[in-house]
Amino acid sequence: MKKVITLLLTAVLAVSALAGCGSNAGTAGNAGSGDKTKRTLSVATSPDFPPFESLDGTKLIGIEVELMDMIAEKMDVNIEYVQIDFDSVLNGVEAGKYDIGMSGISVTDERKENALFTDPYCLAAQAIVVTEGSPIAAKADLAGKAVSVQTGTTAELFCNAEGYNVSSFQANSDAESALVTGKVDAWVIDDLTAAEMVAAYNAENDTKLVILSEAMTTEPYAFMTKLGNDDLVKEINTQLDALVKDGTVKSLFEKYNAPYTQP
Ligand code: ARG
Repeated sequence: MKKVITLLLTAVLAVSALAGCGSNAGTAGNAGSGDKTKRTLSVATSPDFPPFESLDGTKLIGIEVELMDMIAEKMDVNIEYVQIDFDSVLNGVEAGKYDIGMSGISVTDERKENALFTDPYCLAAQAIVVTEGSPIAAKADLAGKAVSVQTGTTAELFCNAEGYNVSSFQANSDAESALVTGKVDAWVIDDLTAAEMVAAYNAENDTKLVILSEAMTTEPYAFMTKLGNDDLVKEINTQLDALVKDGTVKSLFEKYNAPYTQP
């Protein structure tokens, strides 16, 4: 909304400037440039992760997108979203190339060695997805099996640690395709994204995908920034914590039909 207003304002300013309304343009110009002098934070995201971030055409949508926009509005900053692969989000934010990582990022002790995290705003888990009729019915059945995951994710870490035969893909959709085309026996992915992607797949295909009921981990999601950015984390936490407390985050999950677990 803000962006649209900014765009409109810019357009109006441009038109009045062209029309030569000198004094009017001057007055409005101050209002317009107010936005431009605002601090801009770059937010790196991998929009292949519904309901948290995905693309509707070219529009970024999702729980985290709306949450980040709310936080930015309260912090009175502009946000510039940068769309990249998930592992580039982690690497880029660690290197300080982007101010914030927003990608359903699970907080882990390992990641905490190389980055700072805000307070977590929800809990998630890893889920196992198989094709209907698969002999795999639980985690124990994955031993020695071929499993697809997204590169750089906690699913990848977890499955490697378990010693599965892991195939990693930059895009979540490719990890899904590997299962659908029978290249792997199972696909391991965060539970809420699994629910969304499997529902979308099953709605359009005759062969069905099934999410096993055994969730494998508990993972808090948070936003990430580089080591040393303690002030930024504090600023975000002030707004984020309030939005968790007053139920806004919960209602965002409801809006996207996703079950919410508060950390
Ligand atoms: N929660 C998992 C992790 O932190 C997966 C996140 C994947 N996110 C994405 N936007 N594709 O590793």
